[in-house]
Amino acid sequence: MPSMAVIGGTGLTQWPELELKDTVSHETVYGNPSAPITIAKLGNVEVAFLARHGCPHQFAPHRINYRANIAALKKLGVNQIFAVNAVGSICSEIPPESIVIPDQVIDYTYGREHTFFPGDDQPVHHIDFTEPFSPNLRDRLLQTAQDIQLSVKTKAVYGCTQGPRLETVAEINRLERDGVDIVGMTAMPEAALAREMEMDYASIALVVNMAAGRSSGIITMDEIELALAKGMQNVKRLLLATLNR
Ligand code: HPA
Repeated sequence: MPSMAVIGGTGLTQWPELELKDTVSHETVYGNPSAPITIAKLGNVEVAFLARHGCPHQFAPHRINYRANIAALKKLGVNQIFAVNAVGSICSEIPPESIVIPDQVIDYTYGREHTFFPGDDQPVHHIDFTEPFSPNLRDRLLQTAQDIQLSVKTKAVYGCTQGPRLETVAEINRLERDGVDIVGMTAMPEAALAREMEMDYASIALVVNMAAGRSSGIITMDEIELALAKGMQNVKRLLLATLNR
Protein backbone atom coordinates (compact mmCIF):
# COMPACT_ATOMS: atom_id res chain seq x y z
CA MET A 1 0.00 0.00 0.00
CA PRO A 2 1.29 3.49 -0.79
CA SER A 3 2.92 5.62 1.90
CA MET A 4 2.47 8.85 -0.10
CA ALA A 5 -0.76 10.52 -1.11
CA VAL A 6 -1.83 13.45 -3.23
CA ILE A 7 -4.98 15.30 -2.29
CA GLY A 8 -6.14 17.04 -5.45
CA GLY A 9 -8.12 20.26 -5.19
CA THR A 10 -10.03 22.36 -7.69
CA GLY A 11 -8.51 21.71 -11.11
CA LEU A 12 -7.09 18.35 -10.05
CA THR A 13 -10.17 16.21 -9.57
CA GLN A 14 -8.93 13.63 -12.02
CA TRP A 15 -5.40 12.76 -13.04
CA PRO A 16 -5.46 10.87 -16.34
CA GLU A 17 -1.68 10.37 -16.36
CA LEU A 18 -1.92 8.11 -13.30
CA GLU A 19 -1.54 4.42 -14.04
CA LEU A 20 -4.56 3.05 -12.19
CA LYS A 21 -4.01 -0.06 -10.04
CA ASP A 22 -6.95 -0.12 -7.68
CA THR A 23 -9.75 1.97 -6.23
CA VAL A 24 -10.71 1.74 -2.57
CA SER A 25 -13.85 3.04 -0.91
CA HIS A 26 -13.27 3.08 2.82
CA GLU A 27 -15.96 4.32 5.12
CA THR A 28 -14.46 5.67 8.36
CA VAL A 29 -15.96 6.35 11.77
CA TYR A 30 -16.22 9.97 10.56
CA GLY A 31 -18.16 9.04 7.43
CA ASN A 32 -17.17 8.66 3.81
CA PRO A 33 -14.21 10.41 2.22
CA SER A 34 -15.00 12.85 -0.61
CA ALA A 35 -14.45 10.14 -3.25
CA PRO A 36 -13.05 6.64 -3.62
CA ILE A 37 -9.27 6.68 -3.23
CA THR A 38 -7.28 5.78 -6.33
CA ILE A 39 -4.16 3.65 -5.90
CA ALA A 40 -1.92 4.25 -8.88
CA LYS A 41 1.58 4.36 -10.23
CA LEU A 42 3.03 7.81 -10.78
CA GLY A 43 6.31 7.27 -12.59
CA ASN A 44 7.96 4.53 -10.52
CA VAL A 45 6.15 5.03 -7.25
CA GLU A 46 2.83 3.95 -5.90
CA VAL A 47 0.62 6.78 -4.75
CA ALA A 48 -2.84 7.24 -3.29
CA PHE A 49 -4.91 9.96 -4.92
CA LEU A 50 -7.99 11.56 -3.39
CA ALA A 51 -10.12 14.29 -4.97
CA ARG A 52 -10.84 16.66 -2.07
CA HIS A 53 -14.04 18.07 -3.56
CA GLY A 54 -15.26 14.69 -4.81
CA CYS A 55 -15.28 13.35 -8.33
CA PRO A 56 -17.05 15.00 -10.04
CA HIS A 57 -16.35 18.18 -8.05
CA GLN A 58 -19.36 18.39 -5.69
CA PHE A 59 -18.36 19.45 -2.15
CA ALA A 60 -17.88 23.14 -1.36
CA PRO A 61 -14.88 23.81 0.92
CA HIS A 62 -17.00 24.03 4.10
CA ARG A 63 -18.84 20.77 3.26
CA ILE A 64 -15.77 18.60 2.74
CA ASN A 65 -15.45 15.81 5.27
CA TYR A 66 -11.81 16.57 6.06
CA ARG A 67 -11.73 14.10 8.96
CA ALA A 68 -12.97 11.22 6.81
CA ASN A 69 -10.46 12.11 4.09
CA ILE A 70 -7.48 12.13 6.46
CA ALA A 71 -8.68 9.10 8.42
CA ALA A 72 -9.19 7.07 5.21
CA LEU A 73 -5.66 7.89 4.00
CA LYS A 74 -4.25 6.99 7.42
CA LYS A 75 -6.09 3.66 7.32
CA LEU A 76 -4.45 2.93 3.96
CA GLY A 77 -1.00 3.37 5.50
CA VAL A 78 -0.26 6.82 4.06
CA ASN A 79 2.15 8.93 6.11
CA GLN A 80 3.06 11.72 3.68
CA ILE A 81 0.47 13.96 2.06
CA PHE A 82 1.07 16.41 -0.77
CA ALA A 83 -1.98 18.66 -0.96
CA VAL A 84 -2.81 20.76 -4.01
CA ASN A 85 -4.71 23.98 -3.27
CA ALA A 86 -5.99 26.65 -5.66
CA VAL A 87 -5.51 30.09 -4.12
CA GLY A 88 -5.84 33.81 -4.75
CA SER A 89 -2.81 36.06 -4.36
CA ILE A 90 -2.61 39.21 -2.27
CA CYS A 91 0.94 40.09 -3.45
CA SER A 92 1.73 41.61 -6.82
CA GLU A 93 4.99 39.57 -6.84
CA ILE A 94 2.93 36.33 -6.90
CA PRO A 95 0.85 36.54 -10.10
CA PRO A 96 -1.65 33.95 -11.40
CA GLU A 97 -0.11 30.60 -12.42
CA SER A 98 2.58 30.96 -9.73
CA ILE A 99 3.29 27.91 -7.62
CA VAL A 100 3.73 28.61 -3.92
CA ILE A 101 4.97 26.28 -1.16
CA PRO A 102 3.53 27.99 1.93
CA ASP A 103 5.30 27.72 5.28
CA GLN A 104 2.65 29.25 7.54
CA VAL A 105 -1.11 29.35 7.83
CA ILE A 106 -3.74 31.52 9.49
CA ASP A 107 -7.10 29.83 9.96
CA TYR A 108 -10.18 32.03 9.43
CA THR A 109 -12.60 29.14 9.00
CA TYR A 110 -15.44 28.36 11.39
CA GLY A 111 -17.93 25.58 12.02
CA ARG A 112 -15.81 22.86 10.41
CA GLU A 113 -15.08 19.57 12.16
CA HIS A 114 -11.46 20.44 12.83
CA THR A 115 -10.10 17.86 15.28
CA PHE A 116 -9.92 14.14 15.96
CA PHE A 117 -9.68 14.99 19.68
CA PRO A 118 -12.78 17.00 20.57
CA GLY A 119 -12.44 16.23 24.27
CA ASP A 120 -15.76 14.53 24.99
CA ASP A 121 -14.83 10.98 25.97
CA GLN A 122 -11.16 11.18 24.99
CA PRO A 123 -8.24 12.92 26.60
CA VAL A 124 -7.63 16.42 25.20
CA HIS A 125 -4.67 16.46 22.85
CA HIS A 126 -2.82 19.66 21.90
CA ILE A 127 -0.63 19.09 18.84
CA ASP A 128 2.37 21.30 18.20
CA PHE A 129 1.63 23.40 15.10
CA THR A 130 4.56 25.82 15.15
CA GLU A 131 5.42 24.66 11.63
CA PRO A 132 2.03 23.75 10.12
CA PHE A 133 3.58 22.32 6.94
CA SER A 134 6.16 19.55 7.15
CA PRO A 135 9.66 21.05 6.77
CA ASN A 136 10.82 17.70 5.35
CA LEU A 137 8.19 17.60 2.57
CA ARG A 138 8.66 21.32 1.86
CA ASP A 139 12.41 20.78 1.44
CA ARG A 140 11.77 17.92 -0.97
CA LEU A 141 9.42 20.07 -3.03
CA LEU A 142 11.79 23.03 -3.09
CA GLN A 143 14.86 20.98 -3.99
CA THR A 144 12.96 19.17 -6.72
CA ALA A 145 11.66 22.45 -8.11
CA GLN A 146 15.27 23.61 -8.40
CA ASP A 147 16.29 20.34 -10.08
CA ILE A 148 13.59 20.62 -12.71
CA GLN A 149 14.11 24.38 -13.06
CA LEU A 150 10.62 25.25 -12.01
CA SER A 151 10.27 28.63 -10.39
CA VAL A 152 8.28 28.46 -7.15
CA LYS A 153 7.68 30.86 -4.27
CA THR A 154 9.49 29.23 -1.39
CA LYS A 155 7.65 30.77 1.58
CA ALA A 156 4.24 32.31 2.10
CA VAL A 157 1.52 32.71 4.68
CA TYR A 158 -1.66 30.93 3.58
CA GLY A 159 -4.86 32.49 4.94
CA CYS A 160 -7.69 29.96 4.96
CA THR A 161 -11.12 31.54 4.60
CA GLN A 162 -14.50 29.89 4.98
CA GLY A 163 -15.93 30.43 1.51
CA PRO A 164 -17.55 29.39 -0.65
CA ARG A 165 -17.79 33.04 -1.65
CA LEU A 166 -14.63 34.97 -2.43
CA GLU A 167 -13.61 37.83 -0.13
CA THR A 168 -14.45 41.53 -0.06
CA VAL A 169 -11.73 44.12 -0.63
CA ALA A 170 -11.88 45.06 3.06
CA GLU A 171 -11.41 41.42 4.05
CA ILE A 172 -8.39 41.10 1.77
CA ASN A 173 -6.94 44.33 3.21
CA ARG A 174 -7.35 42.87 6.68
CA LEU A 175 -5.70 39.62 5.64
CA GLU A 176 -2.80 41.60 4.20
CA ARG A 177 -2.41 43.47 7.50
CA ASP A 178 -2.35 40.07 9.20
CA GLY A 179 0.61 39.08 7.01
CA VAL A 180 -1.27 36.77 4.64
CA ASP A 181 0.24 36.33 1.15
CA ILE A 182 -2.16 33.84 -0.44
CA VAL A 183 -5.78 33.06 0.32
CA GLY A 184 -7.60 29.77 -0.14
CA MET A 185 -10.40 27.79 1.47
CA THR A 186 -9.11 24.25 1.96
CA ALA A 187 -5.75 23.97 3.76
CA MET A 188 -7.53 24.05 7.11
CA PRO A 189 -8.48 22.00 8.97
CA GLU A 190 -6.80 19.52 6.59
CA ALA A 191 -3.22 20.36 7.63
CA ALA A 192 -4.03 20.23 11.34
CA LEU A 193 -5.90 16.93 11.05
CA ALA A 194 -2.92 15.40 9.25
CA ARG A 195 -0.67 16.57 12.09
CA GLU A 196 -3.05 15.08 14.65
CA MET A 197 -2.71 11.77 12.79
CA GLU A 198 1.10 12.21 12.80
CA MET A 199 1.24 12.41 9.01
CA ASP A 200 3.61 14.72 7.12
CA TYR A 201 1.67 17.29 5.12
CA ALA A 202 2.70 20.01 2.67
CA SER A 203 0.71 22.24 0.34
CA ILE A 204 1.41 23.04 -3.28
CA ALA A 205 -0.63 26.18 -3.83
CA LEU A 206 -1.44 27.28 -7.36
CA VAL A 207 -2.39 30.94 -7.75
CA VAL A 208 -5.46 31.17 -9.95
CA ASN A 209 -6.45 34.82 -9.48
CA MET A 210 -5.40 38.04 -7.82
CA ALA A 211 -7.45 38.42 -4.63
CA ALA A 212 -10.36 40.86 -4.41
CA GLY A 213 -9.29 44.42 -5.10
CA ARG A 214 -5.81 43.39 -6.18
CA SER A 215 -6.54 43.60 -9.89
CA SER A 216 -8.86 45.79 -11.92
CA GLY A 217 -12.44 44.55 -12.03
CA ILE A 218 -14.11 41.55 -10.48
CA ILE A 219 -12.82 37.98 -10.28
CA THR A 220 -14.30 35.73 -12.97
CA MET A 221 -14.52 31.95 -13.20
CA ASP A 222 -13.08 32.24 -16.70
CA GLU A 223 -9.80 33.70 -15.46
CA ILE A 224 -9.64 31.11 -12.66
CA GLU A 225 -10.22 28.23 -15.07
CA LEU A 226 -7.61 29.52 -17.47
CA ALA A 227 -4.96 29.81 -14.74
CA LEU A 228 -5.91 26.36 -13.43
CA ALA A 229 -5.57 24.76 -16.85
CA LYS A 230 -2.18 26.34 -17.51
CA GLY A 231 -0.70 26.16 -14.01
CA MET A 232 -1.78 22.61 -13.14
CA GLN A 233 0.63 21.21 -15.75
CA ASN A 234 3.54 22.53 -13.67
CA VAL A 235 1.99 21.32 -10.43
CA LYS A 236 1.79 17.80 -11.88
CA ARG A 237 5.38 18.04 -13.15
CA LEU A 238 6.53 19.02 -9.65
CA LEU A 239 4.58 16.19 -8.03
CA LEU A 240 5.85 13.57 -10.45
CA ALA A 241 9.48 14.60 -9.88
CA THR A 242 9.13 15.02 -6.11
CA LEU A 243 7.41 11.72 -5.46
CA ASN A 244 9.96 9.90 -7.61
CA ARG A 245 12.91 11.62 -5.99
N1 HPA B 1 -9.98 33.59 -2.24
C1 HPA B 1 -10.17 32.44 -1.54
N2 HPA B 1 -10.00 31.25 -2.06
C2 HPA B 1 -9.61 31.16 -3.34
C3 HPA B 1 -9.37 32.31 -4.12
C4 HPA B 1 -9.57 33.58 -3.53
O1 HPA B 1 -9.39 34.64 -4.17
N3 HPA B 1 -9.00 31.87 -5.35
C5 HPA B 1 -8.99 30.52 -5.29
N4 HPA B 1 -9.34 30.08 -4.08
